Amino acid sequence: MGKIRCAVVGVGNCFAGLVQGIEYYKQHQEQKVIGIMHENMGGYSIHDIEFVAAFDVDSKKVGIPLNKAVYAEPNKVKWVETLSTMDEITVKQSPQLDGVGTYVEKVVTPVHERPTEELKKEILHELKEKKVEILVSYLPVGSDKATKFWAQVCLDTKIAFVNCMPSFIASEPEWAKKFEEAQIPIIGDDIKSQVGATIVHRTLARLCDMRGTKIDRTYQINVGGNTDFLTMKDQDRLQSKKISKTEAVQSQLSQRLPDDQIYVGPSDFIPFLSNTKLMFMRIEGHMWANIPYNMEVRLEVDDKANSAGIVIDAVRAAKISLDRKLGGPVWAASAYLMKHPPKQMTDNEAREELEKFIKG
Ligand SMILES: NC(=O)c1ccc[n+]([C@@H]2O[C@H](COP(=O)([O-])OP(=O)(O)OC[C@H]3O[C@@H](n4cnc5c(N)ncnc54)[C@H](O)[C@@H]3O)[C@@H](O)[C@H]2O)c1
Repeated sequence: MGKIRCAVVGVGNCFAGLVQGIEYYKQHQEQKVIGIMHENMGGYSIHDIEFVAAFDVDSKKVGIPLNKAVYAEPNKVKWVETLSTMDEITVKQSPQLDGVGTYVEKVVTPVHERPTEELKKEILHELKEKKVEILVSYLPVGSDKATKFWAQVCLDTKIAFVNCMPSFIASEPEWAKKFEEAQIPIIGDDIKSQVGATIVHRTLARLCDMRGTKIDRTYQINVGGNTDFLTMKDQDRLQSKKISKTEAVQSQLSQRLPDDQIYVGPSDFIPFLSNTKLMFMRIEGHMWANIPYNMEVRLEVDDKANSAGIVIDAVRAAKISLDRKLGGPVWAASAYLMKHPPKQMTDNEAREELEKFIKG
């Protein structure tokens, strides 16, 4: 079916995990690819995904070849020694707009800011010249203005948008309509991990609900040591992330929990954890004869290995939509692959719908 020409904004740990994973499978062709829906999705394999343009603000990344920028600090993913592709792609400057955040300023030094309009001209030129079809956003949490800027760039250039972060575009009706009217596919918002805190919490909450227990309260606490967790120490940047993660659980219950009986949040940054993410979850409730029960789960995962396969599937679903000339939110893909889609479904329903969509 040909290649999928992508651009990325935010050359951070998630992107490093995605491209190093592709390289890993290139070097280990004998291995089955783990963490994706199908090896062949709509005629595309993981090796058909090509990153042909990249944008960032960090002086350690802007202006250098993409295959080197992926390894620049504060990125921590080092699963393969070198990347055999992307040596001819130079990372270009993106506007900062929201800034990089109080805590992250210690590890990210942005390049000298230039007027947004001047940068936009260069960005449009780069995307056009590189014949980009899909833009993947890995912007940091709290980049609301930057996300709107890049969503508009997609509309201006007729490029499909995969929004992996929690500033709402696909799930914001006004923006969804703009993509629908422009006939450009959008998949969002906020990527779900393969077996991450969200999917485990919402599945167990749904199980308790479906089995007829009464859930009284629940919490989910997450800690990690990468830049994403450092960004999330900044409470002012966290609002949409908290909404996204909380709604992912609330949407699975037959009756919503009162706001003060559910707590879902990234909770702290522990530097030596690096990309290891720990999740602690508790559900308390009652069953037959009003007898109480509770459950606790501790999940330990590599945060970046956990999300890359899902983004690969999101990119391929966006490409299938482009091939079929479909525009607007890709409903099933957003519901299955994202935490805060335009329309929440149960994970089983979403999977079924997405399989139907892939088959056409
Ligand atoms: N499992 C997961 O890792 C997971 C799951 C869901 C969502 N996400 C989201 O994905 C996003 C990326 O996560 P990450 O771990 O790669 O973060 P990261 O902090 O490692 O990377 C962010 C990158 O964006 C760059 N950047 C900052 N401001 C920018 C701007 N205005 N324009 C362009 N680039 C800019 C930074 O320099 C950095 O390279 C986050 O929003 C995160 O919450 C991740």
